[in-house]
Amino acid sequence: MEFAIVALGPMLLMFLAAGAIFVMQVTGFMQNSSFSRREQFSQNLIKQYVMEIALAQTQVFQRSQDLEILTSRLALSNQELGRLNDMKSKFLSMVVHDVRTPLASIRGFSELLMKKNVGEKEAQYLKNIVGSTDQLGHLIADLTDLAMIEAGKLKMEKTLFDFAYVARDILPAMTINAQKRGVEFVANPLPEGVMITGDRFRLSQVLMNLINNAIKFTPVGKRVEVTLRQEGNKACAYVKDSGIGIHRSETALIFEKFYQAKHQKDEKLRKQGWGLGLSIAGEIIRGHNGIIKATSPGLGKGSTFYFKIPFTS
Ligand SMILES: Nc1ncnc2c1ncn2[C@@H]1O[C@H](COP(=O)(O)OP(=O)(O)O)[C@@H](O)[C@H]1O
Ligand SMILES: [Mg+2]
Repeated sequence: MEFAIVALGPMLLMFLAAGAIFVMQVTGFMQNSSFSRREQFSQNLIKQYVMEIALAQTQVFQRSQDLEILTSRLALSNQELGRLNDMKSKFLSMVVHDVRTPLASIRGFSELLMKKNVGEKEAQYLKNIVGSTDQLGHLIADLTDLAMIEAGKLKMEKTLFDFAYVARDILPAMTINAQKRGVEFVANPLPEGVMITGDRFRLSQVLMNLINNAIKFTPVGKRVEVTLRQEGNKACAYVKDSGIGIHRSETALIFEKFYQAKHQKDEKLRKQGWGLGLSIAGEIIRGHNGIIKATSPGLGKGSTFYFKIPFTS
């Protein structure tokens, strides 16, 4: 029994030692192999990242090449557009110039004939000719301004003057226009001594445009009222009419060139114009650092157009 205990002790010890070594080896192996697997996993991941980065770099390179091609194409078409725009402006000013001269002569000779002893019918024909040349003359004047705006040559000739002259220069002609169309025309007293720096001729042109529109879009017997006044350090002009009014969706659009209100149903009135006057007026007022706007309570309810410019622009 003793022998058995004595013999079993070292055996047990040996067995335990062998077991420990085995366990150590196994866990070592396990540790080793999971470490290399993790390393391999990381390496694969890195490889994958590197490949993806290389791919992205190729794509970026490709895209930047495409972009360069597009940019050079765009530069070319921009050049072409600029050239075409120049051609259009030159063509416009050539036509305008070549039409203006014969037009003046048609008008002049018609007026001369009117003074001769012509029959009633002939006199009416001549009056129609003069009327039509005037209409064409206005169009030519608008087209000249448009050509100048597009060529960036519409310059303001600014001087110091009394704002009242903006209206005073044109009121007599406007009164006659209103009378001819049977529209009541009221010009409220003009403020004296409001001195501004601006282009007197161009500002009168703007006011004339607004008044002519008001007369044109106001039915017989209704009223157009002009008011000039000072508001703070601004010179302001208001043209209020009781005419056909403007749909609220179009009060801003009508300042775009060639735009005529679509909600207004009167074809005849539309055909009397080209939709240029207000866009030119806008350009002139912007040239004075001012604002120009239209307001209307709605179709059939009249409109008010106004501009405001700082005393020194
Ligand atoms: N006083 C007004 N009342 C109603 N509509 C107006 C008035 N003034 C301008 N409009 C609208 O704005 C449009 C553009 O005006 P404008 O640029 O002067 O061109 P045009 O008078 O040649 O049509 C007009 O066609 C009209 O539809
Ligand atoms: Mg007009």
